[in-house]
Amino acid sequence: MHADPFDLVLRRRFERRAFLGAALAAGPFLVLRGPAHAAPSDAGLGFDSLAPSSADELRLAAGHSSRVVIAWGDPMFPGLDAFDPRAQSAAEQERRFGYNNDFNAWLPLPRGKSERGLLFVNHEYTGRKEMFTDLAPEGTTREQCAIEMAAHGFSVVELERDEDEHWRVVLDSVRNRRLTASSPMEFTGPAAGSEWLRTNADPSGRRVLGSLNDCSGGKTPWGTALAGEENVHYYFSNAAVVKDERTALGYESMGFRKNTSDYKWERFDERFDLAQEPNEGHRFGWIVEVDPYDPTSTPKKHTALGRFRHEGASTALSKDGRAVVYTGDDAVDQFVYKFVSARSFVPGDAAHNSRLLEEGTLYAARFETDGRGRWLPLVPEGPLAKWSQARILVHARLAAQLLGATPMDRPEDIEVSPVTQRVYIACTKNPKRKAGDGGANPRAENRCGHVIELTEARGDLASREFVWNPFLLCGDPERDADTFWAGADPALVSPLACPDNFVFDGVGNLWIATDGQESALEQNDALYAVPTAGPERGLTRRYLTVPVGAEVCGPEFTTDFRTLFVNVQHPGAGGGLETPTSTWPDRTLGVPRPAVVATRRDNREPIG
Ligand code: FEO
Ligand code: CA
Ligand code: CA
Repeated sequence: MHADPFDLVLRRRFERRAFLGAALAAGPFLVLRGPAHAAPSDAGLGFDSLAPSSADELRLAAGHSSRVVIAWGDPMFPGLDAFDPRAQSAAEQERRFGYNNDFNAWLPLPRGKSERGLLFVNHEYTGRKEMFTDLAPEGTTREQCAIEMAAHGFSVVELERDEDEHWRVVLDSVRNRRLTASSPMEFTGPAAGSEWLRTNADPSGRRVLGSLNDCSGGKTPWGTALAGEENVHYYFSNAAVVKDERTALGYESMGFRKNTSDYKWERFDERFDLAQEPNEGHRFGWIVEVDPYDPTSTPKKHTALGRFRHEGASTALSKDGRAVVYTGDDAVDQFVYKFVSARSFVPGDAAHNSRLLEEGTLYAARFETDGRGRWLPLVPEGPLAKWSQARILVHARLAAQLLGATPMDRPEDIEVSPVTQRVYIACTKNPKRKAGDGGANPRAENRCGHVIELTEARGDLASREFVWNPFLLCGDPERDADTFWAGADPALVSPLACPDNFVFDGVGNLWIATDGQESALEQNDALYAVPTAGPERGLTRRYLTVPVGAEVCGPEFTTDFRTLFVNVQHPGAGGGLETPTSTWPDRTLGVPRPAVVATRRDNREPIG
């Protein structure tokens, strides 16, 4: 089949928007197969774009306001004093909100309502300089390591909305829960119990303590939360002395540290020393499912969804009701994946649905330069014929590479439009890319990232083929247009950088949280909204900006879309407790704290 070179296709697609008028831009350049589920809104967005900010404060588009809901160290149970960062303990941290909240999932109580609900939150990572005032030169103490472990994991916190539309933490809720780097969890799927997951402490290969570096996540149609274990290579020491060659290769592909780890927990807990527990590193890097409605439930790490540096996990249903989970591996030249369950969702059958992610097929994406693409199954066939299914999943990066998946510019969050079923992929950036690939990663030295729009064949999310489109090319319009082709019109470039987390509102607008604008565009990170259809398709508006040093993450709407929760992660990054570059949100405390913020429209209408 003859296909135009990608740069020509790209040029046509964007020049059409820039020069032939907005109406034409509503159609993608490839013919889409399959019906849309509903008509996307043509109404555009109901707020004016906020100006860029470099201020140490949270700012919102006119007509909106915000409040902090909960911040690092705040009590999650009765009987605790107000947080004092200079008097921390591990025992208390296990009962207080964790550090660096990244992902939010709103789970209403009762289901379908918006006045009361559970917020499920990921606590991605800790920073010793940001958390401790009394660091010794040799590093963190045993107690400080224990505090760090307790500040990882998840929080489930019940919230209620008062008459003034402000959110309050229900401290005595029986559903409030902290899960940490030490909480018992279990494995499911083909790698559970395999040789790859067995350790001295767990000869069964089925039980594991804790979850690490949970970045973004997702919700399932059956009411659970998913979390993606991302940069787990920072936590383990001594990959250089692992004896098994296949294991050593796997650790190298994931970036595990040859000698000491970044966290140095191995000084106090031997499971983080690969010289003593060579398989422990295989037990992290999975998608974790938590049932926040059941405080006695044990979180599950689903090996069928593969092990890599997961950003998040977005679930939707195929035409025949199978669960389809899209998940990106956020690293330079890594891949986009999807999992398709073997069995279908059955409304109301909680016991059946709770096992859907235990069995199915994992695929990696190959993007062709002509705008088409294929999902490559990670199964023991072809180049993987000699691998066990367990090894394929434990070393998914190596398996996907052998199959010929397309190396991407750091695929972060992926989200399926609830209106059109089109799939949006954030490629956050890749300044190290030497040359564009002529396809889905078109730019050399991609400093500002882009967003890809993927449409599954026949409108079925379980399809093995798709077509794809460049949806946004991000950057400074004046400076970055020429990175596509000489003389390109600045209007082709969307003025934001480093797209990271996504969420959709109820009418199909995509909301984009950024991580990295301070260096890429010399302005604070922000949350944008962009219509995916209609005359304003592709035109971004800035909704919120965060304080100095912070990234925006975890955008999440309540069921009625009148509250939009947003996480302010690592405010004041690069400073420290004693020399803070930010004092947000408590000006008198003098130290920055990561926090969840609830935003609303002043007229109490749905946001968007
Ligand atoms: Fe934890 Fe890919 O951001
Ligand atoms: Ca992220
Ligand atoms: Ca998301």
